[in-house]
Amino acid sequence: MPTLTINGKSFTVAAGTRLVNAIEDNNVNIGHRCGGKSKCTSCRVVFLAGEPTTMTAAEHAKLTEKGMLGTMRLSCQIVVDADMTIEPQMTLESVADWTDTGPRCLDAVEPDALVRPTSSF
Ligand code: FES
Repeated sequence: MPTLTINGKSFTVAAGTRLVNAIEDNNVNIGHRCGGKSKCTSCRVVFLAGEPTTMTAAEHAKLTEKGMLGTMRLSCQIVVDADMTIEPQMTLESVADWTDTGPRCLDAVEPDALVRPTSSF
């Protein structure tokens, strides 16, 4: 099973787990304000290691729109299939006006689970 390291703490995660849910299930209150639909970017993370070389079209479009392409990834658009080391950027504790992190994301990536090599966009 892959190892997910969040802010320096490591956890074992079942392969195929949606990254945003894996983060939340390991007691990090990451944002997912749109419920994992690639609309809000509150699930954004910085990869220190193990960044996937693929990306959903929805993630690519949103990161491009927000000027984050190349610096952030959207954890709601990524499945844990290898060891990853990340730093969540927006949490319940770090955003002053949040009272919750958003609705739980489905187990499967949406709106479009089809991934493409990042070099193909
Ligand atoms: S973009 Fe909203 S939860 Fe990922």
